Amino acid sequence: MTTYQNWQNNETLIKDLQAVEEMINQHIRIKNKQIEAQIKQVTNNHGKMLRPLFVILTSKMGNKYDHNKTIALAAAMETLHMATLIHDDVIDQADTRRQIPTLHTVKDNRYAIYAGDYLFSICFNMLSKYTEEFDILNYNARTMEKVLIGELDQLEARFTPPKSVKRYLSRISGKTAQLFAVSCYIGATESGASLRDRQRAYNMGKYIGMAFQIIDDILDFKGDEKNVGKPVMADIRQGIFTLPLIYSYQQQPDAVSALLKRPKPYTDETIHALEQQIIQTEALDAAQRLAERYTHKALATLSKLPEGSYKAMLGQIISDMLERTL
Ligand code: IPE
Ligand code: IPE
Ligand code: MG
Ligand code: MG
Repeated sequence: MTTYQNWQNNETLIKDLQAVEEMINQHIRIKNKQIEAQIKQVTNNHGKMLRPLFVILTSKMGNKYDHNKTIALAAAMETLHMATLIHDDVIDQADTRRQIPTLHTVKDNRYAIYAGDYLFSICFNMLSKYTEEFDILNYNARTMEKVLIGELDQLEARFTPPKSVKRYLSRISGKTAQLFAVSCYIGATESGASLRDRQRAYNMGKYIGMAFQIIDDILDFKGDEKNVGKPVMADIRQGIFTLPLIYSYQQQPDAVSALLKRPKPYTDETIHALEQQIIQTEALDAAQRLAERYTHKALATLSKLPEGSYKAMLGQIISDMLERTL
């Protein structure tokens, strides 16, 4: 089951997401058509489009709905997300994304860094064009700040023994959950929701994002590369020690630590041994349970938001994200 299945029969949502893609495309205008085509190859190959989906759904919360604005703000969030992915793949040296070769492998790192920066600027261009809410611009700037602080912290901590769940949570809260939080906040704000509900939407997005990254980290261990469309078992190789490994380490510090101290880059044998440790200590189940707890918090927060038809769909998507395989 994929998260896409939820709205495969919902024509309005499909149309809205197509409009988001078109809006992104319209904003990518570069004199050198070859470069333009190269960047569009990334942006046209869409992923799950979860962040724009959350903007669209939360924009139905209040009683002020502006279609064009919603689409533009959703497009801005997806563009921001894609910019971070292009850069993330350079940092993580990942050679595939959404089933196709990454930009830095097709071109080179320098090219990918500029392309990512270009998409960042497109995002802020859309935001400034479509929202008068200074608050939203401010939230987005803060979001970028938090994403980068999370990523820098992760980079800095590479290959150091994974001691604390708290540190992991703080890192993913920045690098991933923030963008979900701000997507829900933007939708709620533009819909004219009350300040209290906007804050609730923000918190809901945060919980959604926390669960989302925990599942992403689980999928890095047990996902199927063809299905997830990006390399698996990649985090440990890169020295990024995520929740399953932290849990495993907490249970068997000596065994895990001995493996982690082995020479870098890790051999396939070391990776396999670490994988076995994680299986033995049932760390993936424990991580799944924490993702479930965040999901429940997201659903509890959702239940306090104003009534409307958007709620059922949102609730279903949040629950199904726990079972996702891509
Ligand atoms: C990938 O996000 C990056 C993470 C925060 C884990 P998605 O899994 O939403 O990526 P796409 O957009 O569907 O490819
Ligand atoms: C991505 O984290 C977080 C970003 C903010 C881009 P990951 O490195 O786990 O994402 P994937 O697995 O490459 O999509
Ligand atoms: Mg990555
Ligand atoms: Mg990952």
